[in-house]
Amino acid sequence: MHTPVLLNEVLEYLLSARATPEASARRGGRYIDATMNGGGHTLAIAERVQPDGVVLGIEWDTTLFQDTESQLANHELRKNLILVNDSYVNLKKIAKDHDFQPDGILFDLGLSSWHYEMSGRGFTFKKDEPLDMRFNPSGGVPVSEIVNLYDVPELEQIIRDYGEEQFARSISESIGLNRKKRPIMTTEDLVAVINVAVPDWYKHRKIHFATKTFQALRVVANDELGNVVKGVRTAIDILKPGGRIVVISFQGHEDKIVREIFKEQVKAGRIIQPVKGTIRPTWPEQQQNPRSRSAKMKVAEKV
Ligand SMILES: C[S@@+](CC[C@H](N)C(=O)[O-])C[C@H]1O[C@@H](n2cnc3c(N)ncnc32)[C@H](O)[C@@H]1O
Repeated sequence: MHTPVLLNEVLEYLLSARATPEASARRGGRYIDATMNGGGHTLAIAERVQPDGVVLGIEWDTTLFQDTESQLANHELRKNLILVNDSYVNLKKIAKDHDFQPDGILFDLGLSSWHYEMSGRGFTFKKDEPLDMRFNPSGGVPVSEIVNLYDVPELEQIIRDYGEEQFARSISESIGLNRKKRPIMTTEDLVAVINVAVPDWYKHRKIHFATKTFQALRVVANDELGNVVKGVRTAIDILKPGGRIVVISFQGHEDKIVREIFKEQVKAGRIIQPVKGTIRPTWPEQQQNPRSRSAKMKVAEKV
């Protein structure tokens, strides 16, 4: 199971909202986990708010959602959970459908270990799989379509902007040249095309030479940055006064978006920031869970 990141910090900051100051009120609190995955954070929050509290967990990936739903079917906390297979961009409708005004909302952005290890959708260059990388095939654009159909300058911009890849130009040119010979349909095809576009020294570094290109393409396939903007804004709209929003991001772009939305909403007098700046995992957590190393958490409270 995916290890939940910054778990103690999430519980501390999400559950100490002004909306739910008393332990007894907290027990009846209503929380949304906008990125449920296997339910790590969801269950920990539910444990804290039981017997009367409810956590509404949202997961966009249908296969992953079904796995989680069946794993939780007989869980002792199942009665404290509402599980929804949708994108958090539809938060307003989801909350309305369930008559749910939350005391707190958590976003733990990005993807999970499950996507790399189990999805079979090409999220990792370590396996040869079809190039898709969508969380949900009913939305977004498969990466195979992006690399085979987008203009080379557009690909260069995507790889530079979202991957911060210094060889964005030569990689996009290599994509353009190679796809004329044969469409790029698998992760192995894409790695081969990147391999011929980057210098040898770049292949001997700690970070794999395809990492940044894969990340950039995944962000576009799922419109991840657009989703964060919509999701975080809507979350602030639907929170109870005094309720809290906690966002964990793993990429600089996402963290910047959250920082800017919070800044603008503070200016508008809609939120305050009970903790200024960014909360990072402790050293022991970083040692135990290497994935946590790039995590950055921000907290805001609705006025
Ligand atoms: C980092 S994981 C969350 C891990 C989770 N907190 C846990 O403890 O197991 C992010 C999850 O968000 C899901 N996701 C990504 N975009 C989403 C969206 N727009 N709406 C809902 N879920 C989304 C991914 O499929 C993934 O399962």
